[in-house]
Amino acid sequence: VHPRRVFSGVQPTGNLHLGNYLGAVKRFVEMQDEAAELGGETLYCMVDLHALTINPDPAELRKSTRELAAAFIACGLDPEKSILFNQSQVQAHAELAWIFNCVARVGWMNRMTQFKEKAGKNREAASVGLYAYPVLMAADILAYRATHVPVGEDQKQHLELTRDIATKFNLDYGQPGFFPMTEPLIEGVATRVMSLRDGSKKMSKSDASDMSRINLTDDADAIAQKIRKARTDPEPLPETLDGLAERPEAKNLVGIMAALSNRTTAEVIGEWAGKPFSEFKPALADLAVESLAPINARMRELNADPGHIDQVLAKGADKADAIAAPIIDEVYDVVGL
Ligand code: ADP
Ligand code: NA
Repeated sequence: VHPRRVFSGVQPTGNLHLGNYLGAVKRFVEMQDEAAELGGETLYCMVDLHALTINPDPAELRKSTRELAAAFIACGLDPEKSILFNQSQVQAHAELAWIFNCVARVGWMNRMTQFKEKAGKNREAASVGLYAYPVLMAADILAYRATHVPVGEDQKQHLELTRDIATKFNLDYGQPGFFPMTEPLIEGVATRVMSLRDGSKKMSKSDASDMSRINLTDDADAIAQKIRKARTDPEPLPETLDGLAERPEAKNLVGIMAALSNRTTAEVIGEWAGKPFSEFKPALADLAVESLAPINARMRELNADPGHIDQVLAKGADKADAIAAPIIDEVYDVVGL
């Protein structure tokens, strides 16, 4: 039986948005605090190797990686409680990814829906890195024998692939239980925050319209304006949860309020039943500003001292390496390297 260990990563590809915060980073902080009671480490990684799949400008990538670390800390991750580090500073990720490239099957990879979305129409022109991205993700997780991975709903299929790779590795090399069957933790009321402009699309960094997402760097005016202009249908808020079923935009805004105020959607509906969005939206904007303003301010302070961030990340990489390197030694031994 593997000890409880939580791992997750976020790509340093520009500003974090409210979907990343509510679906991932806010959960990371909760799990960090739970670990104080349950035991086990929490590791959170700036996955800069993954960011290469979109060919960022080198200087931009370096800057985004530091800014992501600052955002993590500003959101409540504590380098004394969690291991915060850059993927590229720990060799295990790239090493294990190659071994897993030789375990994963092309047929499995061809079923990955995120690749199809990201590659778009011209799939032949996509990089091999973009295609193999979920294998690197499996390596990120299993290099630490992580047992739990908090992520948004969009990552569910990649976690299934991680388990398939672990299962095949354990079986092929006759090592039952060598890698754990990692559990995705897709929990809470905001596992899939939707675009503010289109209730059928998830909120995403890659959406061309900045009005579609709230960035953690947005100021109070920008947040209020984006929520005021968010698409809704003309009906007031429903009397019961069932009334949200066919109303994706309304459901999204209710979910955002619930997540920001640590309530269930039923509690939010209980408070707002029958009231118009013209009243709900300003309340949601106030709540969002109140929640994000301290994060925003802390991010600014941290970004003013990149040397400090680099120190935090270097320490984190040492701690991460101390866990992963012996596991990679075992893997090399098992596969005959
Ligand atoms: P993006 O999808 O914006 O490029 P990442 O792929 O780096 O961001 O995802 C970072 C984390 O944020 C992942 O755990 C992912 O599941 C989560 N996430 C991304 N978008 C959303 C969203 N709209 N709602 C909830 N969680 C999300
Ligand atoms: Na994603």
